[in-house]
Amino acid sequence: MSRPPSRADDWRDLNRANWDERTRIHLSPSSDYDLAPLRAGRGRLNAIEEAELGPVDGLNVLHLQCHFGADTLTLAQRGATVVGLDFSAPAIEAARGLADELGLADRARFVLADLYDAPAAIAGPAAFDLVYVTWGAVCWLPDIARWAAIVAHFLKPGGRFYFAEAHPAAWMHDDDAAGPDGRPGWFVPYLGRTPHHLPDPRDYADPEARLANADKIEWLHPLSDIVNGLIGAGLRLDWLREHAQLPWRMFRILERRDDGDWQWPDRPWLPLAVSLQATRPAA
Ligand SMILES: C[S@@+](CC[C@H](N)C(=O)[O-])C[C@H]1O[C@@H](n2cnc3c(N)ncnc32)[C@H](O)[C@@H]1O
Repeated sequence: MSRPPSRADDWRDLNRANWDERTRIHLSPSSDYDLAPLRAGRGRLNAIEEAELGPVDGLNVLHLQCHFGADTLTLAQRGATVVGLDFSAPAIEAARGLADELGLADRARFVLADLYDAPAAIAGPAAFDLVYVTWGAVCWLPDIARWAAIVAHFLKPGGRFYFAEAHPAAWMHDDDAAGPDGRPGWFVPYLGRTPHHLPDPRDYADPEARLANADKIEWLHPLSDIVNGLIGAGLRLDWLREHAQLPWRMFRILERRDDGDWQWPDRPWLPLAVSLQATRPAA
């Protein structure tokens, strides 16, 4: 029996249209993305990653949800051989163009595919020393256990997974629910585990931009689901850190730090980011 499609069923198409449009905005000169250091041969990662990731020289790296490849190519500039995957065609096209422009195409390959199709789109299993996922990735994915299984699928025995993301405790807040003191208020429930249909024409990298494809579906994955998903997929958790900073101005009240990240104006109320490393045990 047919039924009208629900918004949650449309998640992939809605989100892809949203990201295709955002990618074009992020590649325009008015966006916060600054490609000058990358073009000068000195790409930089976010401050948290710079402190935690360690050397990647000689590693085979898989970057899932790589956007237009700026971080992927930064890892290639540091000596890694990289594969980036994203489901947005303009993002992958731009990533391939940047790889050519930077002379990195021999060590940087970009694959257009949905995250859940990665095992069919990229040769594996156990092909990578490092799987790398950062900033604004898992909120677009409905099934976190399946995501974790894909991460584990691609890791060599002894290989590691590096993850840096906005903290789910921060994701559950929003400026639209702000109180009189300007602090963001409760927005979606932490333990809801349901899709959130959140039309929003704003973009984090360009305050002036207004998206025509504002419809999108997101999920708030509690931290325990992320960690238990990775453990359930056979990885060993090495460490997990909560941070009072993150790379973009998630809330208006946040203030810029000297290292480029954003933090609370007075004291660290909620964690804004989480990072972790997990290892696939050697056989
Ligand atoms: C906030 S960006 C990630 C930014 C990334 N850390 C970087 O290197 O710049 C989120 C990315 O996830 C991608 N994405 C969202 N849902 C996806 C899916 N189901 N499969 C593959 N990529 C997806 C989007 O196209 C977008 O490029």
